[in-house]
Amino acid sequence: MTRVLRRSLIASAVAVAVGLGSLGALQAAPAGKLEIFSWWTAGGEAEALNAVFGIYHARYPAVQIVNATVAGGAGTNAKAVLKTRMLGGDPPDSFQVHAGHELIDTWVRNGSMEPLTGLFKAEGWTTAMPRGLLDILSYKGDIWSVPVNIHRANVLWYNKKIFADAHLAPPATFDEFFKDADALKAKGIVPFALGDKEGWEAGHAFEAVLIAALGADGYRGLWTGTTPWTGPKVTAALEIFKRMLAYANTDHAALTWDGAGEYIMGRKGAMMIMGDWANGWFTSKNFNEYGWAPPPGNMGVYDALSDSFGLPKKVRDRENVMAWLRVLGSREGQQAFNPLKGSICARTDCSPSVFGAYQRWAMTQWTTDAIVPSVIHGAAASEGWATDYKDAIALFVTSRDTAATQQALAKACVNAGVCK
Ligand code: GAL
Repeated sequence: MTRVLRRSLIASAVAVAVGLGSLGALQAAPAGKLEIFSWWTAGGEAEALNAVFGIYHARYPAVQIVNATVAGGAGTNAKAVLKTRMLGGDPPDSFQVHAGHELIDTWVRNGSMEPLTGLFKAEGWTTAMPRGLLDILSYKGDIWSVPVNIHRANVLWYNKKIFADAHLAPPATFDEFFKDADALKAKGIVPFALGDKEGWEAGHAFEAVLIAALGADGYRGLWTGTTPWTGPKVTAALEIFKRMLAYANTDHAALTWDGAGEYIMGRKGAMMIMGDWANGWFTSKNFNEYGWAPPPGNMGVYDALSDSFGLPKKVRDRENVMAWLRVLGSREGQQAFNPLKGSICARTDCSPSVFGAYQRWAMTQWTTDAIVPSVIHGAAASEGWATDYKDAIALFVTSRDTAATQQALAKACVNAGVCK
């Protein structure tokens, strides 16, 4: 009898003896808890998360899923709660984190995460996911989190009926935008719906204005130090944004991003610039009067971000988390999540047929557009810099002081160590 055969016979005997019956069953089926931390509470995103939970639960019914959400768009409140927990040695089993600088600079460099390269290889994700995305999930030769989607930040959402009634087309340039805006205002409609209560939404819209003023390469250079923040194109972007703000609803400071969406839905507002979670939100409200286009001057540029989840060190039950990550990265998981979320899959092999019209459009744009990183959503810059940028633009909404804002933006780049 060979040693291997002998060992396996002994093992089988042990298995039978303990009433498990088979060798496979000797590996305990996942049980216990799985706590997933995110800020997905709005319509569309909550359903999307639940859809993945549904798959997980069907596969691992003995695991109790704890849905730890902290409401607030773009992680406004969640990120602070997460920091407290991580510093206090109480990590959630897995948490939402944006691919790019937010993941690497906030959590990987300081050794809070476990590498997942082996998982990516075993699951074939190094070929099923785009190189550019894998690159921003990587640090020192390892991959550190599992992306569930790709969101597009620069989308102009508009009410189709309002535009049809006014015989207008969505504006391709800012000259057209302001012309349309005057015509809509004359009809008593808010041209530019905005909700900037949480402090990030104006900075989000301003990314699209920067892209229009600088082009894809110029915009990218802002984050790598090759485009000066002190230059005339940034001034021009701020001036455009100032003009746009004059067409916004007066209650913008009291509304969150979905509050601006209510303007579009209620036929009170014509346009808004928001990420494509708005697509998931509109859909969750059974609203289908919306159209979409690249914001003015954004044709051919995809301002991208990706939500991902990783494996923090010292979690209670590592196997439950690994199982979660496997579901999240799978085609089944991504095809359940993304149609509801408004985003497209991080994987390149999802079937367009499970998606709605907006997402089929986005899937095509993703393959043809120049891809640039969103700063508000963690891809372009480390959190300190992203916060300085966000705060400078939030202040601009009330101050409308172009010179002071441009100075603050330039200083933020210096403080980040990227500009001299
Ligand atoms: C982004 C996030 C999206 C969506 C959005 C609104 O930062 O990546 O998934 O949740 O915030 O909260």
